[in-house]
Amino acid sequence: MNFHIMTLFKEMVLDGLNTSIIGKAVEKGVITIDAVDIREYSTNKHKKVDDYPYGGGAGMVMQAEPVYAAYQSIADKIGQKARVIYLTPQGQTFNQKMAEEFAKEEDLIFLCGHYEGIDERVLDKIVTDYVSIGDYVLTGGELPAMVMIDAIARLVPGVLNNDVSAEFESFHDNLLEYPQYSRPETWRDEKVPDVLLSGHHGNVAKWRREQSVLRTAERRPDLLEKAELSVEERKRFNL
Ligand SMILES: C[S@@+](CC[C@H](N)C(=O)[O-])C[C@H]1O[C@@H](n2cnc3c(N)ncnc32)[C@H](O)[C@@H]1O
Repeated sequence: MNFHIMTLFKEMVLDGLNTSIIGKAVEKGVITIDAVDIREYSTNKHKKVDDYPYGGGAGMVMQAEPVYAAYQSIADKIGQKARVIYLTPQGQTFNQKMAEEFAKEEDLIFLCGHYEGIDERVLDKIVTDYVSIGDYVLTGGELPAMVMIDAIARLVPGVLNNDVSAEFESFHDNLLEYPQYSRPETWRDEKVPDVLLSGHHGNVAKWRREQSVLRTAERRPDLLEKAELSVEERKRFNL
């Protein structure tokens, strides 16, 4: 899978993403991540890419042409068909289901805005998906693009060492994951639940399922409404 990022801050996204698990996946060639500096496509002699908003108001707006030319440089390489995601607080809120959908694509293009945003005309021309990472306003789209790429890339086969591990995590089937423990068996007088030391796979699975439903009921009751629960579970947890 290939991730293409259009940004004014190339180092920020590349330094952040070429680290740890995602960085290793890049090294192994399972995914590629490249960033295009929108400023390089400015025709202004001072490499300016922003200007005052028509109609007045605070801040600056990124101009259409450098963004369009940066997009064209990617489209010339990979064709016009890739989805273009504009990171914006005005988009649909990103979630695990969307990450699973995006992970099926071969190429994804991310457009990071800055200042007050980007001239609407170029957005109308190239953007296929408007995505937010939450109801708050950041200074730029770089962190949101990194968040999305991290969440999507770890679903690409070969990125995680253990391919099954992504399947049983929080939000899969609208349940949060059960609690996890590691060595030592007793830490500051706190013991690991006995069932996890029993070696009985059936009981461990049963305990984990119960914990998962219980935890979701406590912390994210909104998710539980969409989860598939047995009649017994619904009764047991008064749902
Ligand atoms: C200061 S914001 C612009 C906000 C814009 N004036 C508005 O009110 O919708 C600058 C850039 O940061 C990015 N951004 C800010 N918050 C975001 C969020 N919650 N999710 C995704 N992108 C965000 C977008 O790319 C945006 O163009």
